[in-house]
Amino acid sequence: MEKGQLLDLLWNQYTLLTPSARLIRGVFEDRGEQVQNDHIALRTFDDERVNISVIAAPFVRLGYVKKGEYQFKEKKLFAHHYEHAEDPSAPKIFISQLLLGQCSADVQRIVSKALDQIDFTKLDLDTLMLKGRLWEISAAEYDLLQKESEYASWMYIFGFCANHFTVFVNELKTLNSLQDVNSLLKEKGFKLNDAGGEIKGSPGEYLEQSSTIADQIPVAFGSESKNIPSCYYEFARRYPLPDGTIYQGFIAASADKIFESTNVSLVDKVLSNSR
Ligand code: NI
Repeated sequence: MEKGQLLDLLWNQYTLLTPSARLIRGVFEDRGEQVQNDHIALRTFDDERVNISVIAAPFVRLGYVKKGEYQFKEKKLFAHHYEHAEDPSAPKIFISQLLLGQCSADVQRIVSKALDQIDFTKLDLDTLMLKGRLWEISAAEYDLLQKESEYASWMYIFGFCANHFTVFVNELKTLNSLQDVNSLLKEKGFKLNDAGGEIKGSPGEYLEQSSTIADQIPVAFGSESKNIPSCYYEFARRYPLPDGTIYQGFIAASADKIFESTNVSLVDKVLSNSR
């Protein structure tokens, strides 16, 4: 598969789960903007069958190389980001994984049971990131995971897919700051993640980020259905390093708060504040 084709498939799958992302891109395009994608984030577990290396392999074959690494102690996550070696306009790929060894026996058991349901002999690993959920779910297991790790419960429901796409704010011609982007989105009725403030990071850290809160979509548990936060859209403005090149990395403290865009408690709080 070509790089453009893979990225298109990821976008199409992502916008099915995140209708607001398509609407927001439309808001920018109506202003004459051509939206450039800064990065795509993917989530997984550190189980060797599906870990970061497995998810990254097709990107590496398409010319991506491993760059920064990031630790999220409290959330028990580890992440790598990848950049394309030859195409600076290609989105960076940010892949995180839950460190199962640090999770409770219950979380380990539920995740193993889910992954054991995947028939890896029949699976094309190159498209694993597009496969969504490949296991049965139950409300009891979801609740148990969600109490301990919002990341684990999100993965349990949505499986392998893009967690978010990111608008590269530097390339917007009609909006000069992340503040302006945020104001426009709020004016249009979109809700932002305000955990740790709407803007994470600063020019001094060479990266400012904001994001919407995740859309909520109905998920069926047998005959019952529950609205669960799916995916969100992120906005990133990058600043030049002292050597004049634009910073390409990520700030763990900011990413830590951006992860919370899919947290049930945050989504509930933001939605109830706006009622
Ligand atoms: Ni991101």
